[in-house]
Amino acid sequence: MKLNYSANNISEFTVGSIVYFVPEFEKISDKQLKAVDTATSGALTTMLESEEFTGAMGEVASVYHPAGFKAGRVVLVGLGEKKEITPDSFRKAAGHVSRYSGLKSSAKAVFYFGKFDDERFYQAVIEGYLLGSWKLLDYKTGDAAEDKTALKEITFVIDNPRQLKRLEKAVERGFIIGEGQTMVRELAFTPSNFLTPQLLSKKAQQLARKYKFTCRVLDEKAIAKEKMGALESVARGSNEPPRFIILEYKGAPAGRKPIVLVGKGVTFDSGGISLKPGLNMHEMKGDMTGAAVVLSTIVTAARLKLPQNVTVLIPATENMPSGKATRPGDIITARNGKTIEIINTDAEGRLILADALDYANEFKPQAVLDIATLTGASLFVLGYSGAPIMGNNDKLLTRVKEASEATAERVWELPLWDDFYDRMKSSIADLVNSGGRAAGTACAGAFLENFIGDYPWAHIDIAYVDLEPKGRPYIPAGPTGIGLRLLIEVLSAWKKL
Ligand code: BES
Ligand code: MN
Ligand code: ZN
Repeated sequence: MKLNYSANNISEFTVGSIVYFVPEFEKISDKQLKAVDTATSGALTTMLESEEFTGAMGEVASVYHPAGFKAGRVVLVGLGEKKEITPDSFRKAAGHVSRYSGLKSSAKAVFYFGKFDDERFYQAVIEGYLLGSWKLLDYKTGDAAEDKTALKEITFVIDNPRQLKRLEKAVERGFIIGEGQTMVRELAFTPSNFLTPQLLSKKAQQLARKYKFTCRVLDEKAIAKEKMGALESVARGSNEPPRFIILEYKGAPAGRKPIVLVGKGVTFDSGGISLKPGLNMHEMKGDMTGAAVVLSTIVTAARLKLPQNVTVLIPATENMPSGKATRPGDIITARNGKTIEIINTDAEGRLILADALDYANEFKPQAVLDIATLTGASLFVLGYSGAPIMGNNDKLLTRVKEASEATAERVWELPLWDDFYDRMKSSIADLVNSGGRAAGTACAGAFLENFIGDYPWAHIDIAYVDLEPKGRPYIPAGPTGIGLRLLIEVLSAWKKL
C-alpha cells in the first residue's frame, strides 16, 4: 500500500473517495464541511435534517459528485461527540470506514482530518484501517483468494503544512503497528497443521534474519539438557517435537539488561489425556497467540528501532493425548526443581510458562512480562472485553495499565492472595497444576509466581479476548491480535523501573 501526505485542499485530489472524519454536529459551521455542503447543493444539510448523518460514532455516508472536486465522492465518517474524542475514536471510525462498501470501488482515497491535528489520531487511523479491513485469504482458492477491494493508495491530508513531517512519522508508526497486530492475527488463525512447533521456530528464524535480531532454537534434546521437565511433560503426548525459541533484539547498549517477554506457544491444545470436549476444539489452534504476540512485538520493536534490549522466550509444543502422554496423577519436575502433580493435563500452559519464566533468569532481566491464552475461567472474569493481569510489582503493573489506557487494549488487575497459593499446593508433590474451577485465572497466576526469579513480573491472560465472537469497529470476528499494541506501548514508554 502506498502512503502519501499532503496539506492541499481536498477538492484537488483525483481519487475515488475523500474520507472525511467529522465529529457529531448540530449545524454545519465548519468551513470545510460547509464547502462540501455547497459543492453538493446542500446534500449535507438534507442528510443532517433527516438525521441520516449527524457525525455519531458508527455513521458512514457518501455525498456524490461534489462540484469543483476532482474526486467522485466524499465519504463522511462520524467520530462521535466532540468532547469525548480520543485516539480510539479515530481507530474505530477508520475501522467502520474500512469495510464501507462505498470505499470498495476506490483504489485510491484521501483520508482528511479536518481540524484535528494530533499525532495519536493520525496513527490510530491507519491502525484502524489495517485492522478493520484485515482478512486471511491464504487458504481460499481461485477468486476468493484475492481481496480486490482493498485500497492501494491512501493520501493523508491535514490543514497545517507545518505538521506534515509529524503526520508522516505518526502514520508510518501506525502502519508498522497495524501490520504487527495483523501478523498476530494471521499466526493465531493459522491451522495447527501449518504451524507446528518446528514450523513456528522456522518462522521465527526467518523473521529474525529479515528484521535483524538474533534467534536461537532449542530442540527436544537441548530442552532435555536444560531440564525443562514441565515443557517436556506437555510435549510427550505429541508426535511433533517441542521447540524453545529465544529471540534477542538489541536496541540499547549491550550492557543494558533486557526486558524479557514470554509467550505461550501451544500450537494445538486438545487437552491431552484430560481431553477437551469436541465443541469448538478447533479454536485451540489459537493457543499459541501469546507466542504470536511476543514474536510480532520483537519484529515491531525492531522495525520501530525502539531503544531497548528485548528478549523473547517461546516454549512451543502441542498438547496431545497418546500412549506416551502424561497422565493425570503423574508427578513431574520443572526446571527450577519444584515437583508438580498433574491433576489435569489440560492445564498445560502454566507448565510450559513455568520453565520459560525460570529460564528468563539467565538473562538477568529488568522485568519479565508473560502473555498467554491461559485460563478458560477468564471468560467469567472480564469476558471478551479485557485481559486480567497479575504480578509482583506495582510499578510494572502500573506501566501495563498506562499502556492499556493509551492503546485501548483493556486490562484489569486481579489480586494474588495467599488463598490462591494455598490452592496450588499438592498433598504429595510441591504443587498441583490445577486447583479446581473457582478463581481459576488468579490461581494460574499464583502457580506461575512459584517459578519466577528475583525480577519484576507481570502476567497477562488473553484467553477469550484473543478471539472476537461478533465483530467490533476495527476487530472483525476472529482473532483479535490483542497484546501487540499493549506491549509495544510498554516498550515505547519504557524507563528504568
Ligand atoms: N488453552 C486453555 C485455555 C483457554 C480456554 C483459552 C478457552 C481460550 C479459550 C488452557 O490450556 C486450559 O485448557 N485451561 C484449563 C485449565 C483448567 C484445567 C485448570 C481451563 O481453563 O479450563
Ligand atoms: Mn489446556
Ligand atoms: Zn492451553
